[in-house]
Order: sequence, then C-alpha cells, then structure tokens
Amino acid sequence: MMESNPLQPRFTSDNLTTLQSHILAEEQLHPDATGDFSWIMSAVALAGKTIANKVRRARIEDVLGDHGDVNPHGERQQKLDVIANEIIMRCLGDRANIAVLASEEGEQPIVLRNREEGGRYCVMFDPLDGSSNLDVCVGVGTIFSILRNERRKPREMPHYLQPGYRQVAAGYILYGSSVVFVVTTGTGVDMFVLDQSIGAFVLVATKIRIPAARAIYSVNEAYSDHFPPAYREYLAFAHAEGYSSRYIGSMVADVHRTLLTGGVFLYPPTKTHRGGKLRLVYEANPMAMIIEQAGGRAIAGAARILDLAPTDLHERTSVVMGSPEEVAHVERFICREQSTV
Ligand code: AHG
Ligand code: MN
Ligand code: MN
Repeated sequence: MMESNPLQPRFTSDNLTTLQSHILAEEQLHPDATGDFSWIMSAVALAGKTIANKVRRARIEDVLGDHGDVNPHGERQQKLDVIANEIIMRCLGDRANIAVLASEEGEQPIVLRNREEGGRYCVMFDPLDGSSNLDVCVGVGTIFSILRNERRKPREMPHYLQPGYRQVAAGYILYGSSVVFVVTTGTGVDMFVLDQSIGAFVLVATKIRIPAARAIYSVNEAYSDHFPPAYREYLAFAHAEGYSSRYIGSMVADVHRTLLTGGVFLYPPTKTHRGGKLRLVYEANPMAMIIEQAGGRAIAGAARILDLAPTDLHERTSVVMGSPEEVAHVERFICREQSTV
C-alpha cells in the first residue's frame, strides 16, 4: 500500500463536507467559541455565491466595462467592482457581530457598531480582484481578511489597522473555471469548490502545502526596467537557471496557481508605484496568511509582510510570496542590495 505523504494536501473524495459544516466542526474544538465566526463565514460564502453568479452572467446582463467612476486610488471602477462591493455590504452588513466593514472600493471603512454593541470582528475585503480582466473572461476573485475588534485605548490606531499576523482568518474566492473558496483560520489551509447543483461549497482539500520550490516566477516583466536592481538581478538569475514564467494579472489567480503548483509571485516597486501597487490590508495580508499557513513565505523588501503595521486602510506594499525556497532566492538579492547601500 502507498504511504500517504504528510506534506501533500489531503484531497477528499466523499464531497460531503460543506464549508459551513467544516467551520462549525472547527468551532466545536474551541470551548469558548460563540458561533459568531461561522455566522460571518456563512455571509462571506453567500456573497461569494452571489458574486459568482453575477460574474458568470456578466455579458448576458450587460454589466461588463467601466462604471464611469474612480475608486479611492484613482483607478477606474468596473461595473462589477461596484456590484460585488454592494453584494458584500448587503451580505455582511446585517451580521450583528461585525464592527467594521472596509473595502477597496470605499474611501472610509464603514463602522457598524462598537464593541459594547456586539461588534467583535472587522472584515476587510477586495470585492473583485483583477477586475480589468473581466471583459476577457479571465479568472477574478474576492479577497477577505478578518481581524478581532480589539478593545483599544483612546487615540490609538483604529482597530482595523493591525499587522497581518493578528488576522483570525483570511481567504479568497476565485471565480475561475470553477469557483474555489480557499480559507485559513490559522490552522492550515482548506479548499472548497462550489457545487452549483446543490448551491454549496464542498471541501476538496485540507492542510494544503505549497511546494517547497518550483522554477516559475510570476511578475509583470514589462515593468522590469523600473524595478529596483535587486529584482532585475533576480530575474537575470531566473533566466540563467531556465525558469518559466506565468502571469495572469489577477493577483488572486496568480497566487492560487502559486499555492497549488509552486513558484514565486512578485509585484515589486515600479516607476508608477514606488512603494508597490498592491494594498497591504485587503490584498497582501490575507494572501500572505494563506501562503504562510501553507508553508510558504511572503515578504515586502526584507520584511515579513504579516509583521508590517498598517497606518492607512489603503496603503500599498511591494509583494514577494510563494514557495519558501523561491522567496529565499529573491530575498538573497534584496538583502545583498540593502547591505551595499
Ligand atoms: P484590482 O482589480 O483589485 O484593482 O487589482 C488588480 C491588481 C492585482 O490583481 C494584479 O496582481 C495587479 O493589479 C496587476 O497589475 P498590473 O496590470 O500592473 O500587472
Ligand atoms: Mn485587487
Ligand atoms: Mn479590486
């Protein structure tokens, strides 16, 4: 009989465990759990199913293309950015235990209730990541990050601005050739696929582990002339070593591929985005938690992404994440550069 490899994800074959029952079962392991958390996850799942339906029907319902407005970052909003944002607000907005909802599409976070009124969690999200790919039918996704609404002293940073290592859960829903829900609550990474016929996310893999190494990099190489020298030196190394390249242009899809097949995803500082383009709170942090929980690494320059202390909801960061050995290659060039400055 073949020995099972503990480093491989356990793919399930019974397909009888739904996301909801999985979260409820996990909650049973915590004697002090109130059920609040599974209540939030069910709202995220409902939002994911509703957005998936909209994405599938986008061309039919004629909701592709520009909304005609810009988001807080000055980027043009797609109609579906706005629709996905509204769906999430509707699904999570009436969950009595949510204190703050914050989105890429809203300048300010929405404070629903304080701690005394039962607001125990802050949920931050990118409603639709990669939305400029929608018109051409490429995978897009929803990214979410959940923090505890800690009691804070007056004048301290607002409660939704906490380093990523304090996330209690994070994940994404990828609307690709199938709809995939990937989540971590800090005890490994689980993956669910939407079974349209029963309208539920069913568990397909638990304890996913990212491959330790894979000679693939994922970066918008067209900007490489403007990358800091360390990233250009890394690319020269990767070329010399015969690496392959894959870049979709939706972070959620690029990181999902990296999680399952290995390699490294990068969004370095560029001429237009000197501090990096991706948003720390609702893009980099949740994806970094997933990658770390799967045994990978996620860095910004020489720092661990999850250790960065955000000072603004929409602040940006550079990103390098993926297989531990591949991130270490990039890190080697970054650290060499820093030591010669
Ligand atoms: P969003 O659609 O939420 O604004 O995010 C787009 C992001 C991210 O998904 C992707 O990795 C990156 O933009 C692609 O940027 P480039 O087109 O500059 O490569
Ligand atoms: Mn995004
Ligand atoms: Mn987005």
